[in-house]
Amino acid sequence: MKKTKLSPSLTVLLYGPPGTGKTSLTRAFSKKYKIPMCVVESDRLVSPLLGDTIKNIRNVVELAADVAKENGSFVLFFDEIDAIGSERSNIHEVGEIKRAVISFLQVIDKVNYEGIPLAIFGATNHQHQLDSAIWRRFTFHLNFDFPNYELRKEIIESFLEKIEKADIGIDDTIYKRLDNEYKEIKEIHKNLEAKLGRNISEFEDNLLWNEIEKKKQLEGFLKLTLGYSGSDIERGTRVALFKVIQTGILTYNIFYNSLELVGGTAVHVKRQDILSNNRKLGTRSEKYKASRPNTSGPPEL
Ligand SMILES: Nc1ncnc2c1ncn2[C@@H]1O[C@H](COP(=O)(O)OP(=O)(O)OP(=O)(O)O)[C@@H](O)[C@H]1O
Ligand SMILES: [Mg+2]
Repeated sequence: MKKTKLSPSLTVLLYGPPGTGKTSLTRAFSKKYKIPMCVVESDRLVSPLLGDTIKNIRNVVELAADVAKENGSFVLFFDEIDAIGSERSNIHEVGEIKRAVISFLQVIDKVNYEGIPLAIFGATNHQHQLDSAIWRRFTFHLNFDFPNYELRKEIIESFLEKIEKADIGIDDTIYKRLDNEYKEIKEIHKNLEAKLGRNISEFEDNLLWNEIEKKKQLEGFLKLTLGYSGSDIERGTRVALFKVIQTGILTYNIFYNSLELVGGTAVHVKRQDILSNNRKLGTRSEKYKASRPNTSGPPEL
């Protein structure tokens, strides 16, 4: 970027429902590329005192810019970025909201213009409330959604791996039943795609899940966790671990019941409700797409 004389600054907006990995991805980016990071809780920038929000925004970006220049690179992460300049923020004066947004835009533009090697990440799960001028300042827009069954399998396995590393026994039936369930769903998925002559996603209408519901004997982790975020699966795993403190062995039933106990975040409802509501509301993916601000900004990756 430096050689092309384009600014080396990087701006990435991560948006999507809670617990789907936005913060984790940013932390992983900073860790992987060994670039130090500062996390800003955006709502803490917002002050009821006139003018203070603007000062806070300026100060934090200018400080990060200085560190970036000194260090060669730096990540500034605005978590819950919608707190700046949205109706959700606790700024009550409309003029002050506008000034806060403008001040944010100005400092970002300055970083860009001066070619400061600063990466600015922003995360929100209220993307529809985010000011569209802020939205457009980000070069990359990454949409996070609830994991599909393939990713849920990987997430579940990654937690099982962690448990094994901690020397806690895992009942073999967990792996066997997870594998069998995955194969069956995959088979149903493939057959359905062959029948329709096109690719379908798990969240497209109820197509796949109607087929799965027909197979009454199919009950397992992947079916249970439709509408769960990675964070919900993590919470279920934690509950299970508390339950096995005495025995030191994680059984299928304990794991299943713990995941069931925590429930999924999607629409805060039971799976049955999601299935029956999908048609009425549009799929979750459609819903999240629909809630994106209408902007003529850069194309999404
Ligand atoms: N795709 C994923 N793979 C593995 N683990 C995940 C994934 N998504 C979420 N998790 C787990 O959930 C935890 C919480 O995720 P994270 O805090 O990154 O979500 P978030 O999108 O930032 O949520 P929020 O919008 O509420 O801030 C992570 O620490 C991780 O353990
Ligand atoms: Mg987060």
